[in-house]
Order: sequence, then C-alpha cells, then structure tokens
Amino acid sequence: MSLFQTLFRTKQIDHLQHEAKHETGFVKALGPWQLTFLGIGAIIGTGIFVLTGTTAANHTGPALVLSFTISGIGCLFAGLCYAEYAAMIPTAGSAYTYAYASLGEFLAWIIGWDLILEYLFASATVAVGWSGYAVKFLHNFGVDIPPALCSSPLVFNHGVWTQSGALFNLPAVLVCLAATVLLVIGISESARFNNVIVIIKLAVIVLFILCGSSYIDTHNWVPFIPENTGRFGEYGWSGILTGAGVIFFAYIGFDAVSTAAQESKNPQRDMPFGILGSLLLCTILYILVSLVLTGIVPFKELAVPAPVALAIDRAGEGLRWLGPLVQLGAIAGLSSVVLVMMMGQPRIFFSMAKDGLLPKRFAQLHPKFGTPHVTTIVTGLFAALMAGVLPIGVLGELVSIGTLLAFTIVCLSILVLRKTRPNVDRPFRCPFLPWIPIAGALVCLAQMIALPFDTWIRLIVWLAIGLAIYFFYGIRHSRLNSPSKS
Ligand code: ALA
Repeated sequence: MSLFQTLFRTKQIDHLQHEAKHETGFVKALGPWQLTFLGIGAIIGTGIFVLTGTTAANHTGPALVLSFTISGIGCLFAGLCYAEYAAMIPTAGSAYTYAYASLGEFLAWIIGWDLILEYLFASATVAVGWSGYAVKFLHNFGVDIPPALCSSPLVFNHGVWTQSGALFNLPAVLVCLAATVLLVIGISESARFNNVIVIIKLAVIVLFILCGSSYIDTHNWVPFIPENTGRFGEYGWSGILTGAGVIFFAYIGFDAVSTAAQESKNPQRDMPFGILGSLLLCTILYILVSLVLTGIVPFKELAVPAPVALAIDRAGEGLRWLGPLVQLGAIAGLSSVVLVMMMGQPRIFFSMAKDGLLPKRFAQLHPKFGTPHVTTIVTGLFAALMAGVLPIGVLGELVSIGTLLAFTIVCLSILVLRKTRPNVDRPFRCPFLPWIPIAGALVCLAQMIALPFDTWIRLIVWLAIGLAIYFFYGIRHSRLNSPSKS
C-alpha cells in the first residue's frame, strides 16, 4: 500500500454500524430527553454567564442578539450534519469516526486530535470559571478560601510568563476530580446528576428572562447597532461578526451529545432529537437573555465578569432576590459543562485506541460500570492539572478554533459520504444538500478567520504534535493494517 493509500484508507460504514450495535460493554441507558439535557448541560455556561457582557460592551452593543443569531445559524447547519452522522453511525468516536468513514485515517486522526482541544481544554477553562463563582458563593456564607489556593500560579501577559504568587486553583481541581469520579461510576448516574443541575440553570435563566423583561428600558436599545469606531470589530457590522466569533464559545457542546451515541437506547431516532433540540432551545434562550441584558444595562457598562448579576443589581430592589439564585444557576451551569465535556473526551480517546491509533489500554471499558474508565481518569487528571495551574483565559480561543475546525470537516465530509456511499441507510438526512453543509462550513471558516493570529499559531503547534504522534505510533499500529479489520 502506498503512503497515499495508507493515509486515506477508510473504515467501512457497515462495519462501524455493526460495531456500534453489537459492541458489548456500554450501558444503553439514555433516552431522548436525557440526551437533550446532556446537550443543554454542555452548552449553557461561561458563554451566557460571562462572555455576553464583554461582547456587548466591546463589539456589538444591543446588536449582541444578531451575533447570537448568526453564530446560532452556523451551529444549526453544523448540527444538522452531526445529526445525520450520529443517527447513521452511532459510535462514541463522534466526528473522529465520521471522518474515518468518509475522508480516511489521516484526516480522522487530525479531527480526533483536534477534538481533544475542544473537550479537554474547554473543561479546564470552564472549571476555572466555576472556581471563581464558587469562591464568591462560599464567601456569602462566611467561608473564605485563601487567595493562594484559588488562582493560577502562572500569569501569561503579552507573550511573557510570570508567577502570580498563588499555589494552585484548588476549587478548579476539585470540580474536575468530582466530575471524573461521577463519570467513572456510570453514565446513568452522570446523566441523572446532569438533569438536576440543568433544571436548576434553566429555571434561573427563565426567571431572569421573565422577571427581567419588565425592567427593560427600550432607550438602552437605541442605537441598536452602534456606529463603527473606524476599527474592524468595534461596533457596526464588523463588530457583529467579531461578536459572533467570540460568542461561538457559548454554543460549543451540542456536539458532545454525539459521543454518547453508544449509550443511547435508540440512537437512530434520539440522536438528532438530542443534538438539534438542545441547540434550538439554547439559541432561543440566548437571544432572549441578550435582549433583556442589553435592555436593562446600557451596553458600555456591561464589561464585567458577571453581567447577569449586574443586570439584576441595576433592576433595583424588586429583583434583588434573584441575585443569589443567579450565582447558584451559574455554578450549576458551569458544573454541567465540565461534566459533559469530560464525558466527551474519553469516548473519543476510547474510539481512537480501539482503532489502534492510540495504545490499546485506553480502549478498556470498566467491567462493572460499563464506562471507559481508563480514558476518563486520564482526561480527569489532565483537566485537573491544567485547571489548577494554567491561566486559562488564553485557552478559550483555542477551544473555539479547534471546535470550528471539527465542524468544518464534519460539514464537508457529509458531502463526500453522500457521493461515495449514497445508499447507506440514513435515518436522518440533513436537508437542502449541498447548500446547508457548504453554508455551515463557510460560516465556521469565517469565524475561524476572525480569531487572532496567535490562536492560529497555537492550533498549528498542537496539530504538529498530533502529526508526530500519528507518524511515530498511529500509522504503525492502526487496526486497518490488517485488512480483515476494515
Ligand atoms: N458552551 C459552553 C460554555 O459556554 C462551553 O461554557
């Protein structure tokens, strides 16, 4: 086999479908609503509780709602492609496996490696945000964690690393370890816990929308699109586009639902429901929250770490009771993001190891719990380490670029597979081909281009490390080296 043929060898869909159906070990426990709740669990977090304020203040003004709409439409296009795949090839490998079936081993490896950026780094990033909220919440009850134990020992500023004097971020480490334990114990237990925290965060957000809407001062929406300052991205239409790129982080997570495909009772029907249902619901909530937020507070004043809390303060006495609930909602929200992101990562690892691209010992399922415990523990330890010592802010953009790359490849590969395997049974079909996948890929690419150059460099370095691992290990150990395994 030539190097070209090796790099582009694909896995047979029929074989993957057979594997997904008959692989024993995973517990098939999740129904449509649990999948939807997993999606909401992963989606609503830092984006709405933190990023909305700075995006409105620095880029969009009240037109934040348009940024949410643009980014949401891009995600919906990618979501439709994910839904087609997840129903057709319901495996834990998600986009990695989809690429393996359509574009070949090399691109599958790239996408799998890239998904690590998304899930592992997102869980660490959000764990640090969680720590900030948890420390404030505990302070209300007179419990104060020493500053040396709740921030990163390292600071990264203008390309230079310095020491902050702190030891490590204890709460961030603890939330990662707690999620790891829960995820090892079982998918049903994790899903049940997730359901409870998702209900709390949804209730808080709906209360904010309902109660906050009567405090809207429509003067704050004028001008709706503030005039551009002359610099790209500062208000005007370029600000709306940049805002869409930044706020994209808020939508990340719906794709994590697809990594639970082998634990779903009826993936053909329930995967599209879970992916698209969670995405639609969150898009509507995001649009409403951004309207209320910019309606209560003049947008220039929203550049704070907790914009929802600020809006409640500004509304005055009548809404003060909602303050502690919002803190609780944010803590619940961020916990479920950490949990579901840390659910996604080990399942991708597991699939890559099963295909021989990573060491076999990662492809073990726990004999009693039916979870990929080895990869869950490895992921948990890495996430805890990163969340404990790194100044994570800078990683947020890396998460976005990694996810956008994955979405772009998924959108394009749908077109390839419709051509190469037109007759495979597709329980859900992405409509309006080729336009939706093409538009999805273009919107994702445009958002990637809007991200800073530094982020591109980091992505390239990350991919170079991945390529080294593939050429030293994966290519030699791939199961496809023995033809009967394709
Ligand atoms: N969408 C997730 C959040 O906003 C990653 O925290």
